[in-house]
Amino acid sequence: MDLLQKLDETNSLTKEEIVRLLKNMTAEKKEKLFDLALKTRTRYYGNRVFMRGLIEISNYCRRNCLYCGIRGMNANAERYRLSESEILECCQDGYNLGYRTFVLQSGEDMWYTKEILVGLVTRIKQLFPDAAVTLSIGERDIATYDALYKAGADRFLLRHETASRELYEKLHPGMSYDDRMGILRKLKQIGYQVGAGFMVGLPGQKEEHLAEDLLFLKEFQPEMIGIGPFIPHSETPLKEEKGGTVEDTLVLVAFSRLLVPEALIPATTALGTLSPTGREQALMAGANVVMPNLTPTLFREKYDLYENKICTGDEPAHCRSCIERRINSTGSIVDLGRGDNVRFIPEK
Ligand code: 5AD
Ligand code: FES
Repeated sequence: MDLLQKLDETNSLTKEEIVRLLKNMTAEKKEKLFDLALKTRTRYYGNRVFMRGLIEISNYCRRNCLYCGIRGMNANAERYRLSESEILECCQDGYNLGYRTFVLQSGEDMWYTKEILVGLVTRIKQLFPDAAVTLSIGERDIATYDALYKAGADRFLLRHETASRELYEKLHPGMSYDDRMGILRKLKQIGYQVGAGFMVGLPGQKEEHLAEDLLFLKEFQPEMIGIGPFIPHSETPLKEEKGGTVEDTLVLVAFSRLLVPEALIPATTALGTLSPTGREQALMAGANVVMPNLTPTLFREKYDLYENKICTGDEPAHCRSCIERRINSTGSIVDLGRGDNVRFIPEK
């Protein structure tokens, strides 16, 4: 059977089959792949695309991921941290714009203790009981994840970054592949809707590594999957490296949709950064989430994970309408609801 047909009908492929497909992608096969991915997305979620309000609460980070512009050792990064009242104001602005999911993202900033975070999540859920809270704050101890879930946090994003142990260890000095994978499993057990994901075009990354990423997703069945191109940042050890392409990233987005059909998959900002139509193309290749920025513009450009990040000068209301226009241009409609995974029946 044709491999694309097999992927579409069984939602699975072997590692060898994935590698073979990735190595022999033609324009025609891509068109077919994207078409199948979009059909699958439509089967599970209709033509709705979900919006999340992203708040980048701090760019302090104790880690030193080789690719990341806010790595602790980047002495030229201008650090900022939002206070609880500033974060609540962002949520209020987002709520007024219609958002019913807030994504709080930061570097691994230990200034936010378990107690501070629990207080923050509790307050957000009190003020906005019909909104979902997604955390994207990196590695913490299990007691913190537990306490935050009990405080009302609904979802947790923690990209696995790469499923190759060898690549993972090269890119993340002082971090452990087993810890990362262990935490992802634990987050699921606790009850979070969990987001995993990876970068495309990392130095040394081959088709075999990408096949491992896809098979990890297939096995782990995350509720959310974030995939973006690696974009070199001038203040990092990987500044001279090549970086990923929109084309390659779209192929992996489409594969992910077909391997994990119910997943919520964002059209990532990194894709929008590499091409003015990157996010629209991702929506046409199976993505069904966008994450407009709610961070106050004063801080936005400081949250520079990678070079030339888009929207850094734009007000939340501007992003809101810009993205709605983009979604509509792909033939989809905006869904401002919480946008839970179809597989997920919240216990709360
Ligand atoms: N290029 C692209 N994506 C990056 N991220 C971090 N640094 C970069 C970069 N230079 C991604 C990581 C992280 C997410 C928040 O941003 O995958 O999990
Ligand atoms: Fe902070 Fe990478 S340096 S997450």
